[in-house]
Amino acid sequence: MTVAVVAIDGPAATGKSTTARYVAHELGWRYIDSGAFYRVAALLALRSDVDLDDPGDRARLRASLAEAEVEQRMVGGRLHTRLDGRDVTDAIRSPAVTRIVSRVADDPELRELVNEGLRDRVGREPAVIDGRDIGSIVFPDALLKIYLDASLEERARRRAREAEPPDRAEDPAVLASYEESLAVRDRADRARTTGALAPARDAVHVDTSELDLDTQAARILHLVRERLGETPSPTRGTP
Ligand code: DC
Repeated sequence: MTVAVVAIDGPAATGKSTTARYVAHELGWRYIDSGAFYRVAALLALRSDVDLDDPGDRARLRASLAEAEVEQRMVGGRLHTRLDGRDVTDAIRSPAVTRIVSRVADDPELRELVNEGLRDRVGREPAVIDGRDIGSIVFPDALLKIYLDASLEERARRRAREAEPPDRAEDPAVLASYEESLAVRDRADRARTTGALAPARDAVHVDTSELDLDTQAARILHLVRERLGETPSPTRGTP
């Protein structure tokens, strides 16, 4: 049975979250950022000094994630994540969390915990969810699966523009360091044995290298509406 989920997967810096937020807003559906759950796990790991090479520590981390109350809510156009009632929206984006999150996500049992939480949320309301394995693993029966991609150069440029002052964002050395760190994360996300970044067989591929965010989001919204039967496809119904 088709589930009321739009899955938006792809590597980092392809505009997944902006697109997902826009589509969710237009549909009146909930937006869920699945990466935030792995980031919360990474934050918990840092806070309790978890040694990711130690299976006992890994089990301790899973237990604290299972007990944690994680909520996501849109506030003023931004998705806020709360952990046990405290806002951790900025904390989960810290460089320290970003450095270890891929390794934290590299635990099949922890992934299953996150996935169960996501399925439980969707049981309650339709959602647009971005991540790496949402269409391939978490919701194989999603209404629509999108796989966003863009060249490494373009993704590095976008990340640098978000994070750096304008002169540094164009600096080739700065861009090279963004490319390097995205490439490292891509490799880790693609190589994991469970939940690896990969397009679902029936995903619609969208290369966003040449698209601005508005065009990209509008294109995907159009695809969703087509799937929902709200917008006739240009080819449908023509003689
Ligand atoms: O989308 P993001 O950068 O916030 O994701 C953080 C990390 O979590 C990233 O390294 C990949 C991982 N992740 C994952 O393994 N599966 C998901 N569904 C979402 C994120």
